[in-house]
Amino acid sequence: MELQVNGVSRSIKTLEDTSLLQALREELDLTGSKYGCGEGQCGACTVLLNGVAVRSCRIPVKSAENKQVITIEGLEQNGKLHPVQEAFLKVDVFQCGYCAPGMIMSAVGLLQQNANPTEEQIIGAMNGNICRCGTYPRIVRAIQEAAKA
Ligand code: FES
Repeated sequence: MELQVNGVSRSIKTLEDTSLLQALREELDLTGSKYGCGEGQCGACTVLLNGVAVRSCRIPVKSAENKQVITIEGLEQNGKLHPVQEAFLKVDVFQCGYCAPGMIMSAVGLLQQNANPTEEQIIGAMNGNICRCGTYPRIVRAIQEAAKA
């Protein structure tokens, strides 16, 4: 089947029950999206599917066919990081960084739907993304910075 990933059409050979996350990581070597819980509970695997943040561990790859998949690898354009990536770096958000790709993809999804979210809306949208290092206050600050940019 064909997948549209980061603006490029990619051919993959995969089983029907393969998750989008497995296809991205194991077949396309896009390992930025992380495997955390595998149950849709942690957000480490978040990617954008037609502009909406989804848990790729719970999406059958088949249902991503003919849709635009954007992963963390697809945010940078012409050597320039996405404003959300810049803001997360500026605020020095992360400690271990395992949740970083999923956090950033959820934040990009939020800002695409609501360019100027309140703190409450940010917390609500990011609620399903878990950071074991507890960097939540800095994550909220980085999203506020990105919204200003
Ligand atoms: Fe997908 Fe945790 S690995 S939500």
